[in-house]
Amino acid sequence: MMSRDFSTKVISFSSGKGGVGKTSLVSNLGSLWAQQGKKTLLIDGDWHLGKLGIAMGIRPQWTVEKVLSGTITLKDAITPISDSLSLLASPSGILGFEELDETSRHQLFYAIEDLQNEFDLILIDHSSGLHQGVTTFAAAAHQHVVVTTSEPTSYTDAYAVMKILSQRYSIREFGLVVTMSHDRAESQRIMERFIEITTAQLNVKIKLLEIFPWEPKLSISIIKQRPFIDLYPRDPFTRKLSLICKELDENPAARNHGLQFFYAPALGR
Ligand SMILES: Nc1ncnc2c1ncn2[C@@H]1O[C@H](COP(=O)(O)OP(=O)(O)O)[C@@H](O)[C@H]1O
Ligand SMILES: [Mg+2]
Repeated sequence: MMSRDFSTKVISFSSGKGGVGKTSLVSNLGSLWAQQGKKTLLIDGDWHLGKLGIAMGIRPQWTVEKVLSGTITLKDAITPISDSLSLLASPSGILGFEELDETSRHQLFYAIEDLQNEFDLILIDHSSGLHQGVTTFAAAAHQHVVVTTSEPTSYTDAYAVMKILSQRYSIREFGLVVTMSHDRAESQRIMERFIEITTAQLNVKIKLLEIFPWEPKLSISIIKQRPFIDLYPRDPFTRKLSLICKELDENPAARNHGLQFFYAPALGR
């Protein structure tokens, strides 16, 4: 087993719109990093429609109420998937993250903050939507990846996410992942234009990390509840996923930052 890195890196994945392939991306990147021996925690931040558990073949057992009442700790709610990979699935109760009152949300944030000492990497698969609870959660990460398709209905939502994160929380750097492309050259052209406009309007830096093709085999991996990268280790799609891991690895976590909900610039605004 690999020795633990000093600092945990927290990477947040947002999209605005759902159905863009974000959960598929997060589960596969997490599996790849875990294969490299990095202790990785996936957090399903989508408590209404969360499917990370389903994608990984896990049925969540915990409820928010049990954690808030102290019956179990958040650590008890984590499911080990493999040696290095763990999942905090969305809870099985009906309470959404957005419906929690401020105090309960803070209590959970503290519990999540505590978890980070156990892991090298924490990947958060956020719910779609721009509710304050969701954006506070997203803002507390080291790296921000926004996932979109090259359709206007999707990238306008990606724009909205970056607008909120930059204006409300002063987040300036984003990685952009484009999914479900039917025509790489066209997607590239559209997204370059999108980046140009967004960069100018929001005063942010955006790095286009990857353009993924439309890939029907992705749904097979969901049906089999196995990560795509396990089923198709030599597929070009898997190779593209590895490149993203590498790219994000090369951008180290800033110390004194990451999952610090109560010291983040968000507070007091
Ligand atoms: N690149 C892709 N090509 C084709 N289908 C995809 C791709 N990425 C994801 N999918 C499919 O799209 C659906 C939604 O994916 P999911 O990862 O749950 O999206 P999100 O988390 O953004 O809602 C799933 O059925 C999945 O198999
Ligand atoms: Mg999802």
